[in-house]
Amino acid sequence: MKILRLITSFRGKDSQSFQLGNFIIEKLKSQDATAEILIRNLAKDETPHLSDVHINSFITPVKDLSDELQKAVQYCNNAIDELVKSDVVVMDVPMYNFGIPSSLKAWIDQITRAGITFRYTENGPVGLVKNKKVYLAIASGGIYSEGPMKEYDHTEKYLEQVLGFIGISDITTFRVEGVAIPDIKERAMPKAVQAVEEAFAS
Ligand SMILES: Cc1cc2nc3c(=O)[nH]c(=O)nc-3n(C[C@H](O)[C@H](O)[C@H](O)COP(=O)(O)O)c2cc1C
Repeated sequence: MKILRLITSFRGKDSQSFQLGNFIIEKLKSQDATAEILIRNLAKDETPHLSDVHINSFITPVKDLSDELQKAVQYCNNAIDELVKSDVVVMDVPMYNFGIPSSLKAWIDQITRAGITFRYTENGPVGLVKNKKVYLAIASGGIYSEGPMKEYDHTEKYLEQVLGFIGISDITTFRVEGVAIPDIKERAMPKAVQAVEEAFAS
């Protein structure tokens, strides 16, 4: 099993999404001790935000790439290669302003590429990334899995939609939520860990 781990919180070991992601990784390793893990820390190693040079590099035939375009397309090609070669992806997702970190959005913008990870057909768009299992480890100060704030959550649904668009539909979400709410925050991680335990036991 090849696992791609995306770390996206800038809080290092204190990060709740990182800790939850670690727990998911431990469970995966207990299923397959030989699992290979490739870690990409998007919070630390800057992901290029899309610019016209990237778009030009995506649409220019390989043989016509200038040095500048060749350089621009490298991150994208590498990120797609890492995704395609993985069997499982674990994404740490700290909620920022109801959405995903901009670094993760930048990564998604790099890997969502017409003709490579999806293509348009006469019957509409078709995802080209197959046979992946994705685990989302979402951390949030408030509670979004239920209750009045549920509709403010633009992490899980967005990731399901955009990953679904490129062909990845096997997605399981775990949440460590309410980490900013007194009385709830103490139970947030144990509850999340229990949910992972139960999912892997079944
Ligand atoms: C810039 C920023 C924006 C945040 N926005 C939200 C938010 O919209 N809703 C929420 O419930 N928590 C919000 N939080 C709280 C984080 O989701 C929470 O601290 C979470 O644990 C962060 O993940 P991490 O521990 O993996 O870094 C925000 C935190 C930061 C730093």
